[in-house]
Amino acid sequence: MNFQNIPEAFQIDHLFHQSTYLIGGELKQWSGATSEVYSTISSTEAYAPTLLGSIPLLEKEQAFEALEAASEAYNNGQGLWPTMKVADRIACMEKFVEQMKTKREQVVKYLMWEIGKNLKDSQKEFDRTVDYIYDTIDDYKQLDRNAAKFHKNSGVYAHIRRGPLGVVLCLGPYNYPLNETFALLIPALIMGNTTIFKPAKLGVLLLTPLMEAFQNSFPKGVVNILFGRGRTLASPLMETGKIDVLALIGHSNSANALQNTHPKKNRLRIVLGLEAKNPAIVLPDADLDLAVQECIAGTLSFNGQRCTALKILYIHETIFEAFKEKFCAQVDALKFGNPWDDGAMLTPLPEVNKPDYIQGLIDDAKAKGAKILNPKGGERTENYIFPSVLYPVNKTMNVYHEEQFGPVIPIMTFSDIQQPLDDMAESNYGQQVSVFGKNTKTLAPLIDTLVNLVCRVNLNSSCQRGPDVFPFTGRKDSAFSTLSVRDALRSFSIRTFVAAKDNPYNSEILKEMLEEKQSNFISTDYLL
Ligand code: G3H
Repeated sequence: MNFQNIPEAFQIDHLFHQSTYLIGGELKQWSGATSEVYSTISSTEAYAPTLLGSIPLLEKEQAFEALEAASEAYNNGQGLWPTMKVADRIACMEKFVEQMKTKREQVVKYLMWEIGKNLKDSQKEFDRTVDYIYDTIDDYKQLDRNAAKFHKNSGVYAHIRRGPLGVVLCLGPYNYPLNETFALLIPALIMGNTTIFKPAKLGVLLLTPLMEAFQNSFPKGVVNILFGRGRTLASPLMETGKIDVLALIGHSNSANALQNTHPKKNRLRIVLGLEAKNPAIVLPDADLDLAVQECIAGTLSFNGQRCTALKILYIHETIFEAFKEKFCAQVDALKFGNPWDDGAMLTPLPEVNKPDYIQGLIDDAKAKGAKILNPKGGERTENYIFPSVLYPVNKTMNVYHEEQFGPVIPIMTFSDIQQPLDDMAESNYGQQVSVFGKNTKTLAPLIDTLVNLVCRVNLNSSCQRGPDVFPFTGRKDSAFSTLSVRDALRSFSIRTFVAAKDNPYNSEILKEMLEEKQSNFISTDYLL
């Protein structure tokens, strides 16, 4: 590791003490307890975590203040934001994204330091999020255009649109602290909801350069930003029963605990992206080079810290030896380095205890009969544990059941395709699968089954969320409701409409409202 070789642009030249939080349109100064933010990346030759700065540790009083501000801005659907013209809400979003784009460098730098994501992927996360916002604006315009009309049935006119739900609590994950958080926040906002958002445990400072843009782009109380612990802030908010939507990307345990504290079960809508254990199934006739390449990307991009990562590989027993040889050689050839190092696919793990956790999975599997197949597997440094290829894995091992979310690759072999299918059916998860093969007579019926076990079947490629216009969801403990640019607009809104019997009395009223543009809801204007 070249500790000296941190490019100037990425060096930590000052500590970043975030002392404000956003409530009711005001960046409030915090003088209470704070929490230091460290990176697991060292800036000195002798290993030591790097201090990056600090964030406020807000208390439940601030959470309640944020709730009051968000509720006031929503004002039971009478607030400025939920009743605003679509064009005006879009203008606020455009103002925000224009300012956001000027912060790219700073956000990318802190993505690397805070969560260890490599430079290319950090830049991609930023750019993908900006694209997501523009795509959301376009889709919202389309939604609005589709709704700019009257339907008539059985003598009744209906003007149908989608309306907001109320106050949304947004909680994002540490692995995509910008992208996934915004993939919840942006559609929630544009549909007219007001929001309270708390960054994940890691990847917090990178969001702070955007606070002023949030403050000056949206009416007061529409976006409220809190810093601190989930247990201190999110649970008391849910207990009030005044949160209308829980939007969370993270673990089902946290989602379930939060839902359970909400006293009004039918008021609460949930939009959840949760954990997964996506398998790859490699059939005997698969193009082995392609399968190996995709399984490397699928298991080890961002060290496997993706909900869509391939977390278990099923290899047909007739090709196992050939697969193993190529796969292990390629795993061991991967470069470990700091996020800005050229070609570093493997980068420091941001969670201090992750190497020990992965070690625990390896030790447990070894004690139950697995071996590490690759020579470099399990090599430790202060902030990393080199990916281990574990084989043979069986159901008694923790690595079979747990979502490892890190660099360890369990492999099973199969002779009968029914085995992986049964395992998938039995699993608590059901997000995606990758299937590698060529023979259509085998693939076609297999695909017909797989689509009923998960929500995306990737043919000859690794699993992934993108392109973001495609539906991203899962069965069982993997998700609740669907996210994509378009589906998210639906998830954060509800169909609501005005109905009027077709008679001269009503027609006159509707005509006048339309001609004089008196209502923001009843409108046949086209947004181009
Ligand atoms: O952590 C889960 C992410 O949604 C995965 O997204 O497939 O684009 O890495 P990705």
